[in-house]
Amino acid sequence: MRNQTAKLDLIILGASGNLARMKIFPALFALFSQGLLPPEARFYGLARRSLSQEEFREQIMRHLTCRYTPEHSCAVHIERFLAACRYCRGDYRSPDGFAELGSLLRPDRNRLFYLALPPEIFPAAAANAAGLAQNGTDGAWTRVVLEKPFGRDRASSDRLNRELLRQFSEEQLYRIDHYLGKEMVQNLIVLRFANQIFKPLWNSRYIRCVKIDWQENIGIEGRGDYFDHYGIIRDVIQNHLLQLVTLIAMREPATLTADAVRDRKLEVLRAMETVALGDLVLGQYAAAELNGRKIPGYTAEPGVRPDSLTPTFARLRLRIGNDDWREVPFIIRAGKALAEKKSEIRVVFRNPESNIFCTRDRCPPANELIIRIQPDEGIQFNIVSKTPGLKMRLQTKELDLSYDTAFADTVIPEAYESLLLDVINGEKALFIRKDELEAAWDIFTPVLHEIETAQIKPEPYAFGSSGPEAAREGICNNE
Ligand SMILES: NC(=O)c1ccc[n+]([C@@H]2O[C@H](COP(=O)([O-])OP(=O)(O)OC[C@H]3O[C@@H](n4cnc5c(N)ncnc54)[C@H](OP(=O)(O)O)[C@@H]3O)[C@@H](O)[C@H]2O)c1
Repeated sequence: MRNQTAKLDLIILGASGNLARMKIFPALFALFSQGLLPPEARFYGLARRSLSQEEFREQIMRHLTCRYTPEHSCAVHIERFLAACRYCRGDYRSPDGFAELGSLLRPDRNRLFYLALPPEIFPAAAANAAGLAQNGTDGAWTRVVLEKPFGRDRASSDRLNRELLRQFSEEQLYRIDHYLGKEMVQNLIVLRFANQIFKPLWNSRYIRCVKIDWQENIGIEGRGDYFDHYGIIRDVIQNHLLQLVTLIAMREPATLTADAVRDRKLEVLRAMETVALGDLVLGQYAAAELNGRKIPGYTAEPGVRPDSLTPTFARLRLRIGNDDWREVPFIIRAGKALAEKKSEIRVVFRNPESNIFCTRDRCPPANELIIRIQPDEGIQFNIVSKTPGLKMRLQTKELDLSYDTAFADTVIPEAYESLLLDVINGEKALFIRKDELEAAWDIFTPVLHEIETAQIKPEPYAFGSSGPEAAREGICNNE
């Protein structure tokens, strides 16, 4: 649904930051250049540093791309977009900091506040934003977008929610998990419920295990202050990867409405056992020499404590205690500074109880469904096939739906484009509801506290390797 007629003022708090420059403004421009934003929408940036309008627009322009429009018309779109962008200098913590902004916002416009700020500033910024909220007359709405981290554990997340809910209703809050905006992640629900073939197979009778693998081949890239306080479990597992588990394990919702989908995801989260320390391998990347270049280890990164025990790698097993999944381990493996960059889900099917192709010592390998989320989106199904020839020889081959060939003429939207359009249209299915967030923290809070209290030492692994030794052996049954 496109809300072309609504009037919109969009306000980015923390407009000088990395997220605003690299993700939010480029996504807004992508929507703007396709005519998907309300006409006359304006974009206000608020931050503390002193920036002229020209400097602000220059910062924005540097990261805009012309993916949707030919170069010659793109220049016109860029000019019009930048003309609609305006910078206001102000402190998020003080109502005075919002005075100039308040004087510029138009009275009859919907207002969308994007809190692109460090989380400790959310409550103060939200309180000041609430001072500029529309009061609902003329039907104008106010919505607030937040980015993770939503706390460090269940208690701090609850505290943050209480503070935000003093200013805005749950309906007004849009908690982004940008993974849910990724094209392939949105396709999971289609793959599972629009293809009849998978429905009867999607349970512990036919599925042996599910593996979710998230790897980056870079370190923390100057984000030491943030990362050292959170670590890999809070950074990607408790949110992005857990969301993937819910989409893989949920039952079919009755409809595609936001609450029908989120109710199903919540059922999975509530059926999940808390993570046990014994199910966890933790690692931290160490210095290495790659192609003759010395690469520093995690504890030598700026902003990281030299004696830090923060994990940059974790492998863990999740268990879902319901009839569909009780026997099926969900194995999550996530790490920074590994050999490659990829994010994928691997659904491993069971071998049949009897198979005419089994010999005395070998059976054909089990089928696998691989969903590649990044970098090369695609769906791959591994099947057993006869090798052409006069002998009966079998081998595993792939049925491969690679997006770059299957959808060669289609521009795949960035997650933020999809999510921002949903916020503007009031679509909440891809945003995290408060009860989902609480359930997600309940699964991880006890083990996170245990790791910190017991000062568990992560196993070192070399930058660019395949991770800690202890995480290399398989934990999918019969592997
Ligand atoms: N960057 C990403 O790709 C990404 C991805 C996922 C989630 N996030 C989350 O999105 C939010 C913003 O991320 P970011 O990378 O843009 O952060 P950032 O660059 O560190 O901060 C954004 C802006 O907030 C202001 N700020 C920073 N520290 C402050 C402080 N102590 N007090 C008051 N203002 C402060 C700065 O603006 P002024 O100093 O000019 O006011 C800065 O430009 C964070 O919650 C982050 O965790 C970011």
